[in-house]
Amino acid sequence: MTSLKLFLLILLAVIAQLGIFAAIAFYRHWVSYEKIKRQLSGMEAAPETGAVESISAPVSTSAALWQGTRNFRVQRKIFEDKNHSICSFYLVPEDGQPLPTFKPGQYLTFQFNISDPVTPTPRKVIRCYTLSEQPRSDYYRITVKKVPPPENKPNIPAGDSSSYLHEQVQEGAILAAKAPGGHFYLADEVREPIVLIAGGIGITPMLSMLHAALQDDPHREIWFFYGVRNSSEHIMKEHIQELASKHENLQLHVCYSRADENDVEGVDYQHAARVDIKLLRLTLPIKQFQFYICGPKPMMETIVPALENWGVPEHQIHYETFGPASITRHEKPAAVSVEPITVTFRKSGKSLQWDDSFSCLLEFAEDNGIEINSGCRAGSCGTCQTMIELGEVEYSQEPDVDLEASTCLLCVAIPKTNLTLSA
Ligand SMILES: Cc1cc2nc3c(=O)[nH]c(=O)nc-3n(C[C@H](O)[C@H](O)[C@H](O)COP(=O)(O)OP(=O)(O)OC[C@H]3O[C@@H](n4cnc5c(N)ncnc54)[C@H](O)[C@@H]3O)c2cc1C
Ligand code: FES
Repeated sequence: MTSLKLFLLILLAVIAQLGIFAAIAFYRHWVSYEKIKRQLSGMEAAPETGAVESISAPVSTSAALWQGTRNFRVQRKIFEDKNHSICSFYLVPEDGQPLPTFKPGQYLTFQFNISDPVTPTPRKVIRCYTLSEQPRSDYYRITVKKVPPPENKPNIPAGDSSSYLHEQVQEGAILAAKAPGGHFYLADEVREPIVLIAGGIGITPMLSMLHAALQDDPHREIWFFYGVRNSSEHIMKEHIQELASKHENLQLHVCYSRADENDVEGVDYQHAARVDIKLLRLTLPIKQFQFYICGPKPMMETIVPALENWGVPEHQIHYETFGPASITRHEKPAAVSVEPITVTFRKSGKSLQWDDSFSCLLEFAEDNGIEINSGCRAGSCGTCQTMIELGEVEYSQEPDVDLEASTCLLCVAIPKTNLTLSA
């Protein structure tokens, strides 16, 4: 071989190598470009399982909360439990724009138009569903339990919107939702150790808080108590166990109240009991915690007052109920010299003396057999807006919605004077 031939061969090899490097670089660049493009258009695929795979998530700090409703496409629908009674919906914005951030624990308020063979004319139903992941800009996730008829009335229809979501809403469907709202969320300005207590589907805000807390500060002390009947209702089991094994700062305590014969204590769950104050007192070290609680009415009605009796200050106990569950906290001091206030519900034909032990007019009405539509029960969705015909109300917490003239939100209002409401 002549030296010219050798030179040409080496040159060819160098050119070929450069070509390969350039092709690899171009391919990598193209892959990351496509990824960013998908993220921006809200099309980033949601994880395969119902669980969140990564603790870090893309977050948009600039996107603003929207007014009215925004359309979301159901990108993915995944059952989360053995019974197929709990289902997650991954929602991407139809407009493809990044989603605003929210506070872990907040919810979306949906307006569904539901029709079925029995009632073919669509009816508007408003319901709230908590965002069950930490904030991210490419999709939101909700996790919904199908609500069966009450045990003592098996012949009445199951829950309206939860049945609609489970049975009629498939991947590709469009749902309209108001922007995230709500007052039950992880207080990020306080970096104290936290105790998250979830019962049944009350786990949804805790999942969001748990992920956000781990992402935010991998060393923050977190105690997670989760009560369900048994493994058939245990949602995202492997995922939560994996988080606990990866994060030394996360103490997981799963309680089965009716473990079935195949459930193994120490493997599937830690305690054959309900989550109650006895367990909390036996397990938690003595220190300052922020408590976050969400679960069924009986659990909330026992745990919240029990924590107060244990000496936990009121401002360290944060809770939310998913339905009509008023919680009697400490006895209120007897009111000093107050004029009795009369509340008249005109359509219902009832005039009643206001009882100070109720935290809002909505609970007062329900307790007196007056039916009022409600959604969030926290002044955010506007469902309980009611006309004031006479008198004035005051608010325990300012409403998040713009109210029409001469109306009030019964879920956050109490009477200031004698009152006549249209309901
Ligand atoms: C802030 C907030 C966050 C929430 N987050 C979540 C969440 O993350 N996940 C979740 O699954 N849920 C959540 N919820 C609850 C959710 O909003 C709904 O209340 C729940 O899904 C039930 O609604 P539904 O329309 O299916 O049932 P509904 O139609 O409201 O029925 C509820 C129950 O009443 C029964 N019923 C219906 N008609 C009658 C009648 N005439 N007499 C007696 N009983 C009757 C039904 O059979 C059913 O058992 C949240 C609620 C709030 C307020
Ligand atoms: S129930 Fe939502 S504002 Fe009152």
